[in-house]
Amino acid sequence: MARKKLIAGNWKMNCLLAEGTDLAKGIAAEVKKMGKPSCEFLVCPPFTLLTTVKKALRGAKVALGAQDAHFNVKGAHTGDVSPVMLKDAGCQYVILGHSERRADHGESNELINKKAVAAYEAGLKAVICIGETLEQRDSGKTIEVCSNQILGSVPDNADASNTVIAYEPVWAIGTGKTPTAQDVEEVHAAVRKVLAKKLGKGNANKMRILYGGSVKPGNAKEFLSLPDVDGALIGGASLKVEDFVAIAKNAGCC
Ligand code: 13P
Repeated sequence: MARKKLIAGNWKMNCLLAEGTDLAKGIAAEVKKMGKPSCEFLVCPPFTLLTTVKKALRGAKVALGAQDAHFNVKGAHTGDVSPVMLKDAGCQYVILGHSERRADHGESNELINKKAVAAYEAGLKAVICIGETLEQRDSGKTIEVCSNQILGSVPDNADASNTVIAYEPVWAIGTGKTPTAQDVEEVHAAVRKVLAKKLGKGNANKMRILYGGSVKPGNAKEFLSLPDVDGALIGGASLKVEDFVAIAKNAGCC
């Protein structure tokens, strides 16, 4: 079963209006030039830029995603944004359970699971993030931690059409440090096994598992040619058109 690779940019809390518009336009132009790329593309700007970026991407095969969502449709939740609102703003995806949200906002697996269910109900696809800290890796707990995150944060009705998993070792995010290709493949294969137990083999074989954490043009080929790596969730390097596009090219998207 061939899984179409997903090249996803997580802009995090970056870009003002002008910069975000230029970045989106630049990416759109480059993706158009690729003709019929073999990968899918996704950009996830901050909430403030969603509608502007949607316009800037017009005519290019680049999906729009948000970086978080509440689990309610609407109501008294100051500062939060609902999945229905994201869908209304033109999003197809939402990142959930990023380690920065787990750390900054104390998000639990249970909460992420609830958010994912709400995302599905709104017609959004969830990019559910998992990953171990350095301490957990050093004590040999990587597979255990990631398995528990999958079991807790992935809803029972998840499938390949509504869910993408992103494995992002916390210690590799924004540090320039990465696991070895062998380590990455080991975790991805283990995650797929847990998904098979939870959702059935058919679903697990179709579901995309992205790698994230210091993905750059120089290491994209190594990671994205691994059998169980189905794309990348890119932070820093997604803020530069040339780097984002070079990652896609080096991953064999066109
Ligand atoms: P970097 O690519 O900057 O390491 O960030 C990865 C990430 O957290 C993407 O969600």
